Amino acid sequence: MNTTQTESGLGTAYQMRPAATRTELTSVGRGTPMGELLRRYWHPVGVSTDATDVPNKVRALGEDLILFRDKQGRIGLLHARCCHRGTTLYYGKVEEDGLRCCYHGWKFDTEGRCLEQPCEPEGGSFKDKVRQPWYPVQERYGLIFAYMGPADKRPVLPRYACLERMEPGEFVEADDTSVGGGGPAIIPCNWLQHFENVVDPYHVPVLHGSFSGPQFTNMMAALPEVRFEKSSCGVTVRSIRKQENGKIFYRITEAVLPTLRVVPNPRVAEFARVESIGWVLPMDDTSFRIYVAGRVKNAGDIGRMRSKFEGKFWSEMTEQEHQRLPGDYEAQVGQGPVTIHSEEHFGQTDRGIVMLRRMLKDQLDALAVGRDPVGVSFDQAAQPIEFEAGNYIRDA
Ligand code: FES
Ligand SMILES: [Fe+2]
Repeated sequence: MNTTQTESGLGTAYQMRPAATRTELTSVGRGTPMGELLRRYWHPVGVSTDATDVPNKVRALGEDLILFRDKQGRIGLLHARCCHRGTTLYYGKVEEDGLRCCYHGWKFDTEGRCLEQPCEPEGGSFKDKVRQPWYPVQERYGLIFAYMGPADKRPVLPRYACLERMEPGEFVEADDTSVGGGGPAIIPCNWLQHFENVVDPYHVPVLHGSFSGPQFTNMMAALPEVRFEKSSCGVTVRSIRKQENGKIFYRITEAVLPTLRVVPNPRVAEFARVESIGWVLPMDDTSFRIYVAGRVKNAGDIGRMRSKFEGKFWSEMTEQEHQRLPGDYEAQVGQGPVTIHSEEHFGQTDRGIVMLRRMLKDQLDALAVGRDPVGVSFDQAAQPIEFEAGNYIRDA
């Protein structure tokens, strides 16, 4: 221990340095370093059933957008404020070929082209000169992905081997309830606080093994031996726990830039490659949600991976129960809306987080000199991305 901290009068909160956050890593708005980095990748902004003939609100990377599906089945994702005089398209009506604003009836197609200006002379003589800001979307794995970056940098939407190669009886299901977040669908803190948790295996025996329950299988309760490794696209965590029967429980989790959590289900004692992946969507600087897609045998299997605390779901608990049985939600939201990096003290066990932040910072630097960040591909024929993640049992 630092001896000065033991002397009375020293180390009081009054002597703290001014609070500082590395906002280059946390802020997601357009024009911010991380906001621009995130905008080089595709992000899920809804499940397929969110795009219907009733406009739906989407908040992503600090932007308010409107999602809809026109009567021809095409998905549109438009800037929420109408380019005429700014009312929200949320109150618009979906038609055969687009979305009509409620205020003066301008109609926009799924790529923002203005099709009609009904109050203007001759149905709108300058409609070809205005365009409602829009984003390209693609539907895959039951999710709707949006690309919110510069048009000439648009990569291909990646495929993932764990969602392409099925075992017998399996199919892909999507979930939008932030399974893995330990709480409600929308979590009120910065996305990076959650993403860092993916490479923090030492919280498992403490938070999940003791404070929350225990929540996971007994095998997760022991303090693991951990190796952190830089992968081509993120950080891989290899945790080894010796079992009483002499076998070794080997668990691999991966954080894949920029927001992908590749975490095998910790609640089942099945030994297999990872069955689901989760995208952390920063809604803005102080809230995020998680979209998951996974291989399942029964509809609703992903929702059943949701955390329980002494048999209760998070939403069923009282404030007293949350305090007595905190989980990932409490620990991460407890770091504040955006954590204060100047107050942190890293130990040996935080190496994964140091690596992840450094990798993110390296991508910011790459972008600043005009290079593409890791993990983006412009090759339409690119092979599905493979992960090592999974729960495995091995002989010692
Ligand atoms: S504000 Fe949308 S048509 Fe006028
Ligand atoms: Fe956790």
